[in-house]
Amino acid sequence: MPAPRGTALVTGASSGIGEATARLLAAAGTHVLLHGRDRERLAALAAQTGGTALEADLADPEAAGKLAERALAVTGRVDTLVNNAGLGWAGPLTELSPELLARLVAVNLTAPLELTRALLPGMLARGHGRIVFVTSIAGRTGVAGEAVYAATKSGLDAFADSLRFELHGTGVDVGVVVPGVVRTAFFERRGRPYTRTTPRPVSAQRVAAAVVRATHRPGDYYVPRWLRVPVALRGAVPGAYRALAMRFGAES
Ligand SMILES: NC(=O)c1ccc[n+]([C@@H]2O[C@H](COP(=O)([O-])OP(=O)(O)OC[C@H]3O[C@@H](n4cnc5c(N)ncnc54)[C@H](OP(=O)(O)O)[C@@H]3O)[C@@H](O)[C@H]2O)c1
Repeated sequence: MPAPRGTALVTGASSGIGEATARLLAAAGTHVLLHGRDRERLAALAAQTGGTALEADLADPEAAGKLAERALAVTGRVDTLVNNAGLGWAGPLTELSPELLARLVAVNLTAPLELTRALLPGMLARGHGRIVFVTSIAGRTGVAGEAVYAATKSGLDAFADSLRFELHGTGVDVGVVVPGVVRTAFFERRGRPYTRTTPRPVSAQRVAAAVVRATHRPGDYYVPRWLRVPVALRGAVPGAYRALAMRFGAES
């Protein structure tokens, strides 16, 4: 299946899943607008993909709106928006500082909402657009020690679902990619490395392939696919799910 051509803005393209997604989209002929904070990594990726680097710290409340403006200034349109940038934090809630709590909510939740709001009018006017959200299994099942992170991802999920209904018939489609554990810098950066043996981490490329699929055929994509089983179990028999999760470990 070919990737969409046109222009795609990928947030968090300087690392991990976003970088892999940007490479796949560029390889298929899409002009990629590469967002991140790491100037050197963005410049190197821009040189390799023919894309355009756009630096912005999404923790800044005005950054998402300005990023949308700068993205539109490059080619006049954004056909595909991949809301991927995000950060984690793991530990007891009482040890999370108010500053970091606000940062998690700003980057993981407020920024993608605002970016979507700002880029949607152009998509609606053209009668075509693709918006993909990279959420997390944490947002669908809950994870001990990651309550705020899980809440931001759950919020993103609810936003995506609601938007899907709102945009039905407009030509603008919404996709959601729900990764489990992915081999990226995410865990080191959140301050607690991933040490469990199961579930086994998947590659960023595998998640990126799901993101590209979500741009063609909107829907929910779990990576790996078996993750839909605990989510279904939680929905059908929440008490039994929780008992099992407590027993086998509800941390990552
Ligand atoms: N890795 C996993 O196991 C996993 C599982 C489920 C969901 N996810 C989600 O997947 C997405 C990508 O994560 P990843 O695994 O690829 O991690 P990563 O390698 O750490 O990449 C995170 C990306 O987000 C950007 N970012 C972080 N804070 C930012 C800020 N304040 N302003 C702007 N950009 C910021 C980073 O930019 P800079 O590097 O330039 O700062 C980087 O490009 C995240 O939303 C994460 O929650 C990851």
